[in-house]
Amino acid sequence: MEEIKVFAPATVANLSCGFDVLGCCLDNVGDDMLVKKNDLGRVQITKITGQDLPMETDKNVAGVAVQALLEAADSKQGFDIEIDKKIKAGSGIGSSAASSAGAVYAVNKLLGEPFSQKELIAFAMEGERLASGNAHADNVAPALLGGFSLVKSYEPLEVLKLPAPSDLKMVILHPHIEIKTRDSRGIIRQSVSLKKAINQWGNLAALVSALYTDDYQLLGRSLKDEIVEPIRSILIPHFDSLKGIALKSGALGFGISGSGPSVFAMCRGEETAKKVYAEIEKFYADKTIEFELHLSSINPQGIKEYK
Ligand code: HSE
Repeated sequence: MEEIKVFAPATVANLSCGFDVLGCCLDNVGDDMLVKKNDLGRVQITKITGQDLPMETDKNVAGVAVQALLEAADSKQGFDIEIDKKIKAGSGIGSSAASSAGAVYAVNKLLGEPFSQKELIAFAMEGERLASGNAHADNVAPALLGGFSLVKSYEPLEVLKLPAPSDLKMVILHPHIEIKTRDSRGIIRQSVSLKKAINQWGNLAALVSALYTDDYQLLGRSLKDEIVEPIRSILIPHFDSLKGIALKSGALGFGISGSGPSVFAMCRGEETAKKVYAEIEKFYADKTIEFELHLSSINPQGIKEYK
């Protein structure tokens, strides 16, 4: 195998109660990547379309992630990487994670799969470290594993794949303002009260239970964030109104996607999701901010190969 083309999906990290530990994979939003072996003995980013991003290997998240993989594999194989970016950088739906995860997935395939999907997470996290200054896994893990994933611990890294109820739909609003993950991490308080921590881990545990038992109502009641959302939501225009509209239109829950500015409404069934989509679209239509809306199922597979 000399080359491979993959779809690298967008992801929603945190999911309200799971800051830095929980994420899920989207189905129809993502980048396309073409990775080819070269005879140069080095990794190069040969083409990026759709976004203005660094072409230097050491400054590009895909380049850095692949270099981490090659070092661990002790491989001198070179690769050319082309990225067609459809996920905007700074959108909050895992743009850097898609590039990092897509690149390590593709290179691993071309090398004959020396690593498992779970082992690839640590390499893709190096891309996240470059992008945001912090190597979090809650976007790259669901991009690589599909469905929902939970980071049980960072040291040592232990990631679990969780089941995804089949009727879940995500409506994502991306207001076209840029919030850098690095900046939105900088405004979070570094300590939390015990009371808030108790509420948060109760919700996180209940959310995991809801995924295992297909309990959509419990899932909705668990999508709460007392720690990060009250601070970050200040940066997102009309956050409280959007949340009110989504919940009134039948969404199970509503929150910030990753570090924002995108927000998500989790819904049961296509019909409810379409209603939430339409109501959010109507509300945002006369605002001065351009926006994009997505309606997606949960992608159980993660990265997909084009055959
Ligand atoms: N957990 C990370 C954060 C995700 O919220 O900063 C960034 O996409």
